[in-house]
Amino acid sequence: MNTYDVIVAGATGMVGRKMIQVLEERKFPVERLIPLASERSVGKEVEFQGRKVPVELLSAETLARYKAPIGLFSAGASVSREFGPIAAANGTLVIDNSSAFRMDPAVPLVVPEVNREMIFRHNGIIANPNCSTIQMVVALKPLHDRYRVKRVIVSTYQSVTGAGQRGFDQLMSELKNEVPEFQKFPYQILFNCLPHIDEFTDDGYTKEEHKMINETQKIMGDASISVSATCVRVPTVGGHSESVNVEFEQPFDMDDVITLLSDAKGIIMQNDPKNKIYPMPIWAHDKDETFVGRVRRDFSVPNGLNLWIVADNLRKGAATNAVQIAEEWIKGQ
Ligand SMILES: NC(=O)c1ccc[n+]([C@@H]2O[C@H](COP(=O)([O-])OP(=O)(O)OC[C@H]3O[C@@H](n4cnc5c(N)ncnc54)[C@H](OP(=O)(O)O)[C@@H]3O)[C@@H](O)[C@H]2O)c1
Repeated sequence: MNTYDVIVAGATGMVGRKMIQVLEERKFPVERLIPLASERSVGKEVEFQGRKVPVELLSAETLARYKAPIGLFSAGASVSREFGPIAAANGTLVIDNSSAFRMDPAVPLVVPEVNREMIFRHNGIIANPNCSTIQMVVALKPLHDRYRVKRVIVSTYQSVTGAGQRGFDQLMSELKNEVPEFQKFPYQILFNCLPHIDEFTDDGYTKEEHKMINETQKIMGDASISVSATCVRVPTVGGHSESVNVEFEQPFDMDDVITLLSDAKGIIMQNDPKNKIYPMPIWAHDKDETFVGRVRRDFSVPNGLNLWIVADNLRKGAATNAVQIAEEWIKGQ
């Protein structure tokens, strides 16, 4: 079996550390792990397969020195904009977790369960979608193929880990009644929820909400799907939760919907409310799958369905999805 040098850019962050863990767990054929981060992290080490690996500076020089075939990037959009194209020019397949290239028409935006075929149409960069979008489209895809999704109204309940290490640290400091070293959220997050993720745009929505709209259409390959999103940060840790209301073009059969979701790759059904079984972040935490429950007809519109969808944003929403893309890519080599 071929083995590959793998760069992890942003290796000290919440997603980067999870990527390293997922590469190891899934036995990705890593020849050499190359963890990169900012100058703040030079001198630190990450652990991989029982060994300590020194973190190096992400720079054009480092990328050129290694010319690794695969680069998993999760160091933020501005860093990806600067270094992604440099890595790609060195022959590295960049799988980028940031928002930098997601809506670039030349860059595939991939969730393997939904549009695996796009992996092979890359020009050096493949974008990993926004975490809240990934888990939603995993559930929508099998239903769209059968009944055609017309409109989606989604409200999210997003974990503090979605805001990176500093988001997590703010909640932990507030729990201990300490002043956070860095105020990641505009307000206290403990005992609170903030209808505000990423920046506001002139139309009153946030960039996170726009990502859910635009990325859903791009991944599903269908610009006719209408999406309305409200994204909310809540003081949870294990994953993002979503209330998803779907209106289909065609009438649907509820048993068939359950079968489609149950049979779909990457989905675990937790749909037994009478026995108090429904998806929750504490169960999704550190799991690769997307959990679906509270499946019920919306009687207020024709062809309406309600779903409750939970997934670990650091796993399926980021690291696992990126590693799955790399796995599919090497299968095609
Ligand atoms: N958290 C999630 O659930 C999630 C999900 C999907 C996508 N993403 C995206 O993934 C990216 C990383 O998110 P995160 O949650 O892991 O954030 P994080 O915990 O704040 O980590 C950021 C990482 O980026 C590195 N970094 C920052 N500036 C850098 C620079 N100038 N040069 C090199 N490395 C630099 C940091 O290195 P130092 O330690 O050296 O500062 C750290 O390793 C973001 O684009 C985010 O939008 C996150």
